[in-house]
This record gives sequence, C-alpha cells and structure tokens, in this order.
Amino acid sequence: MASSPSSSALAVPLLLGLLFSAAAAARFAPADNHLLACGATAPTVLPDGRRFVPDSGCASTRLRSPALTLPSTAPNAAAQPSPLHAAARVFSCRASYDLAVRRRGYHILRLHFYPFDPALASARFHVGAAGFLLLHNFSAPTPVVKEFILPVHSDVLVLTFVPDSGSNAFINAIELISAPEELVGDIGTRVTLGGADQIKGLSSQVYEMLYRINVAGRKVTPFNDTLWRTWVNDGNFLVNTESSSSRVWSFGGRIAYPKDSKLMSREVAPDNVYNSARSVSSQGNVTWGFTVPAASRYLVRMHFCDIVSKVLNELYFDIYVNGQLAVKDFDISGATGFLAHPYYIDFVVDVEDEGTLKLAIGGSKNSRSDEVSGILNALEIMRMNKTSGGIDGDFAVALDKEYVASKGIGEFARSLLCGFIFAGLVVVLVMFVVRLRTELRNNGTSWSGQPMDSGNGKLARAYQLVPTKTDF
Ligand SMILES: *[C@@H]1O[C@H](CO)[C@@H](O)[C@H](O)[C@H]1NC(C)=O
Ligand SMILES: *[C@@H]1O[C@H](CO)[C@@H](O)[C@H](O)[C@H]1NC(C)=O
Ligand SMILES: *[C@@H]1O[C@H](CO)[C@@H](O)[C@H](O)[C@H]1NC(C)=O
Ligand SMILES: *[C@@H]1O[C@H](CO)[C@@H](O)[C@H](O)[C@H]1NC(C)=O
Repeated sequence: MASSPSSSALAVPLLLGLLFSAAAAARFAPADNHLLACGATAPTVLPDGRRFVPDSGCASTRLRSPALTLPSTAPNAAAQPSPLHAAARVFSCRASYDLAVRRRGYHILRLHFYPFDPALASARFHVGAAGFLLLHNFSAPTPVVKEFILPVHSDVLVLTFVPDSGSNAFINAIELISAPEELVGDIGTRVTLGGADQIKGLSSQVYEMLYRINVAGRKVTPFNDTLWRTWVNDGNFLVNTESSSSRVWSFGGRIAYPKDSKLMSREVAPDNVYNSARSVSSQGNVTWGFTVPAASRYLVRMHFCDIVSKVLNELYFDIYVNGQLAVKDFDISGATGFLAHPYYIDFVVDVEDEGTLKLAIGGSKNSRSDEVSGILNALEIMRMNKTSGGIDGDFAVALDKEYVASKGIGEFARSLLCGFIFAGLVVVLVMFVVRLRTELRNNGTSWSGQPMDSGNGKLARAYQLVPTKTDF
C-alpha cells in the first residue's frame, strides 16, 4: 500500500471496508432469537456456534411456575450427544415461559426433549403456545426435537407445560426464532380424490414439522443450514423404486437464488439442499413413503432445482401426492426461467386412515430425454392444525392464555445489558451498519426493515445476531 497522505482520511474507508466485508458474511438476522438451555447453570455453546443461555438467566424470558421446578442434571453429562442434553427443567405442575416477542408474525419454535432419566422417559404432558395446543399427551421415551412454525400475534409468547395427572413435564432446550417472510407462503395446491385445485390461507395456520428430506444428498446439520434446520437423506423413505428408472445427481456449480425475492431465498432451503437431486426416467416412477398420524391435514413442500439439464425446457414430469395426480407435465423451466434456480410447490393433502403419505415423481413422454424426465431435490412434510385450537384437534386442556403486561423500562435495560455482555460493542456496531444497509437496499419494507420505535430497539435486537453462520 502507498504511504498514506493522512491516516485519518484512510481510517474511515478502511473501517467501512471492514464493516462491509463483515456484512457479506452476515446471514439471516432474526429479530427474535431466544435460545434457552433449560435447567442449565451456565451458557451452552453448540457445534453450530449458537449460544444457549440458562432459562433463568435473561430478562427477555420469564419462567412462571406456581410450584417447585427442578433443574435436573444428566448422570454423565460429558457423554451426551449434545451439550443441551446435560440438563433439563422438570415441572410437577403447570408452568409457563414468557418469551418476549419483538417482531410479530411467523416464528420457528423448537423444543428439545432428551429423557436422560427413566422418570423423564415416562413423563406424559401437554404443551401449548399462545393458547394453541401443540403437543397433546406427549411423551418422549427417546430423544426428540419437536419443531413448530406458528404465527405469533402478541408481544409475549406464552409457552405452557401441563403434566398429565400423576406425571411430570420436562424440557431440555427451547428455540424461538423469527421466521423470514418468505418461509411461509399463502397459496398452495390442494390435492383430493377429485383432483387438484388452488388453496389460499396457508399463511395463518400452525405447522408441526415431521420430515425434512435432502433428496439424494448428505445430511445437512444446523451448522450448514440458514435456519439451523436438519435435513436427512431420503434413502430410508424410497418405496420399491426400480434403480434403472432413477439416478442420483450432485451439482458443483452455484445455485442461482433470485435477488431480493420475497418468495425464494437461502432461508427457504440452503445450497446444500438444492445441489443434490434424484431423477426419474420418462418410463418410470420414483416414490417415497412417510409414516404420518392418520386423520390429519398435511402441507407437503416439494423443492425443485434443475441441476441436471444443460439447456432449458428439457424436463417435463408428473407429480403425485398421496396417489393422486397433483401436477401433470410439470415444466420446471417454465416455472423458474433459469437453470439451477430453486423453486418449490406447496401441496395440501388430507390423510385419512392409512397413516402413510406417498409422494412420487413420474416420467412424461413430453420430456426431451428418455433417461431424465424429472427431478426432486428436497421434501418437507408438515402437519397442519385441523381446528383453531390445536394440531391434534381440540382437547380439554386449559392452556394459560394470560399475557404479561408489556415490560417496564428497567427490565428492558437489563436485557440490553444482557445483549452487550454476549456480543460486545463491535458486533453491535457491525450489525447496526448491516441492518442500515439492508434497510436502505430493501426500501424499508422487507423482512429486516420493520421500523422500531426507538434507537434502543435496534441495539437491543443486535445482540440476537451473534449466532450467524461462519461456514461460507
Ligand atoms: C394420556 O395417555 C395415557 C396413556 O395412553 C392415558 O391413560 C391418559 O388418560 C391420557 N390423558 C389424556 C388427558 O388424554
Ligand atoms: C458443512 O457443509 C460442508 C460442505 O457441504 C461439509 O464439508 C461439512 O462437513 C459440513 N459441516 C457440518 C458440520 O455438517
Ligand atoms: C407411475 O405411477 C402412477 C400413479 O401410481 C401410475 O398411474 C403410472 O402408470 C406409473 N407409471 C409407470 C411407468 O409405472
Ligand atoms: C388453524 O389455526 C389458525 C390460528 O388459530 C386458524 O386461523 C385456522 O382457521 C386453523 N385451521 C383450521 C383448519 O381450523
């Protein structure tokens, strides 16, 4: 570098350069990002870099419990597969967490259950959020993470645990993360015995995530996912598919996400998910089967990204949902206009008695090649609420619907302090600039551009940005 005429003249561009290169690495910035390690006494850092704080620690969360709650520690904490499994909070009667919500709208709620004690493995309980029954008479004899995508219409999300009579309830960890706008669309394709038609109103429902499948790809862990999701390989779900009609693809090029789209982004599904696919020949069918609770409604999101064609308009194929023809001669190029351009279709389907949901892609004679007629890159299956009270239906479990009054200024200041401890002033500054840039770029209307009523709000939110990904 040439000798500087004036060090202060350089300092500003240098600092800005530093900030903008940090901005390039910055990923999804959820307004709400509660990460709680329940019953833990110290913060827990996961392999994906996220830091879970003890549930008794931060002012933006309050644990309300009329009776004694016991933090419980696993016998050999060091041997647990996840550091979140080292402790649990055990409730002997109804208890609630109040989670402060800065941005109303869809949130991802993940509940981690790791029954390290026989008493926990046999516990039966109900879980509700925002007055909505999410888990009815639930038990976790084996480790499980339950994920829900739900709209939040208040400034506090009340998460309630109600033990079944004579039992306890427990929880190891809680994640409550603002969902990006593009994650939940409003329009889908409803598939019934009578055929397929359009359905609206999907953006006011509650979803329980059941399967997230990276077709023909490797397992994607929260470390490599833009929303800290887990995607698993589809091998175990393939149903009597002849290997001659199907091929596996992986793609080394760039996935062409549309710029500034309100419908598709890396948060819908990351590159790692779109860059693998399974294809079907023009003469064949590839079928996947999933065990699901009977008598429920499902949202099936099928992800497509043409990583196999050399030119546009090569692929035409049929899509079957629950044995019904859902889309005839799907023209993926027509839908996207580009190769390697991600796209998804949401199907809504009722599964009555069988408890198996079958999904298939079938070849079409309209495709340009016999060998590759269609593809599938990924699959998500979510159970939808059938009533306005619960995922399982309406049950006589009274959930706590009372919301706490809005927080006093003292509590707000404490949460601000909390944020500073985790993040440090530098990160806050970086993110402040990132946010400003995003707001300018998006004209203040996008997902990160919601105005806050005070400058303090921006700083307070900034500490939520710490767990950004570092893998890119
Ligand atoms: C929960 O399930 C257990 C065992 O199946 C049953 O005994 C109990 O009555 C159920 N409780 C509720 C509230 O449905
Ligand atoms: C993340 O993805 C990269 C590239 O696909 C892979 O090499 C790496 O092992 C993944 N890391 C984790 C923790 O899954
Ligand atoms: C593919 O599956 C559909 C629906 O089950 C069926 O109608 C069609 O004949 C199958 N095609 C082939 C080539 O097996
Ligand atoms: C699901 O719950 C939402 C929110 O309470 C409600 O608006 C919607 O009507 C429910 N869906 C059904 C099918 O009842």
